Amino acid sequence: TSTPEIHRGLAGVYADTTEVSTVIQETNSLTYRGYAVQDLAAHHSFEAVSYLLWHGELPDEKQLAAFEAAERALRPLNRTESELLARLPETCHPMDVLRTAVSLFGAEDPREDDNGEEANLAKSLSLFAKLPTVVAAHQRRRRGLDPIAPDPRLGYAENFFHMCFGEVPDEEVVRCFEISLTLYAEHSFNASTFTARVITSTLSDLYSAVTGAIGALKGPLHGGANEAVMDMLDEVRDPADAARWLDQALAEKRKIMGFGHRVYKNGDSRVPIMQGALDRLVAQSDNPEAPRLDKLHAALREAMFERKQIHPNLDYPAGLAYHLMGFDTPVFTPIFVMSRVTGWTAHIIEQLSHNSLIRPLASYDGVAQREVPKG
Ligand code: CMC
Repeated sequence: TSTPEIHRGLAGVYADTTEVSTVIQETNSLTYRGYAVQDLAAHHSFEAVSYLLWHGELPDEKQLAAFEAAERALRPLNRTESELLARLPETCHPMDVLRTAVSLFGAEDPREDDNGEEANLAKSLSLFAKLPTVVAAHQRRRRGLDPIAPDPRLGYAENFFHMCFGEVPDEEVVRCFEISLTLYAEHSFNASTFTARVITSTLSDLYSAVTGAIGALKGPLHGGANEAVMDMLDEVRDPADAARWLDQALAEKRKIMGFGHRVYKNGDSRVPIMQGALDRLVAQSDNPEAPRLDKLHAALREAMFERKQIHPNLDYPAGLAYHLMGFDTPVFTPIFVMSRVTGWTAHIIEQLSHNSLIRPLASYDGVAQREVPKG
């Protein structure tokens, strides 16, 4: 028999169709339900973008108001949730907290096994509303502080800052954060979304699929890269050392975090808008380290392009932006989860609409069949 063609990493393989989003290769652009993501980020709130991902159309004023009211009402954690999550080791990674939280929400939800579209949309909205409360409580716990209850008078992004820091920053900072959430929300069959679709394809439940997706996103080749970017900036420190540090890292065959992409080979379409938001953040930041970090960030980007012609991906500007907004580095990937949960759940619902069990083949190259020693 002939050896089948192997697509390691499923690179270049079309596993299914989707109506949620696409990367248009010719123009290197990303669209959600047909709208260019940079236009959505510039003109619509993150709540409106989430509605679009789930429902296929942007909401009108009335629909948006109802959506926002429903989201605000679902934010608080119940006592069991707060107590159980507070029992996790303080030292554990916030992604572990989120993974556990979603699993717990599933265990508590009597609709867990209802895979109807209405039930799954309701669960998706509930996750969307509650995950920021979990992330903010852990951000505060890391600093030895008590959680702050959500404020239903505040929008999604403003409320997150309020729950993390007890105050809402300048409008410009909130806008930058919202832009990052819109850009992170959806990206077709990336590793975590595909994980969610694989789990869904067995007719398991939405909470299990999201729990698995969180595990996939945690890795540094995927969502974990935004944290790894900040770790790298902390390691290099001096902009004057950037080129030397990079040469050594490349000589050691290290992957430089925040650079490269499986799909975009001529630059990530989300980067220019996020870089613009980061530039505005640097310009208005009162963090004394901002100018140095900005210089270092640019120096590494330029050196990487000179050496390897590899462009930054979204995690490169987002990592530094989250640092300048005041978040602890281990909270960066959980923020990515708060956003990507919209894309994951849109794909879970789509998978169920035309489900086929995802079960590929493997070409065996182990030991040929042999006798079991009788003993
Ligand atoms: N640093 C150094 N070399 C790189 C990098 C990088 N970040 N990215 C690609 N290359 C090189 C790679 O070594 C290979 O060179 P060669 O052909 O000489 O072996 C060539 O470019 C092609 O790379 P690849 O690894 O075959 O490409 P891939 O499509 O399998 O990998 C990737 C994509 C994202 C895993 C990879 O670029 C990477 O590891 N980047 C760093 C981690 C990162 O930033 N991840 C975030 C991805 S985007 C958003 C997200 O999901 O959060």
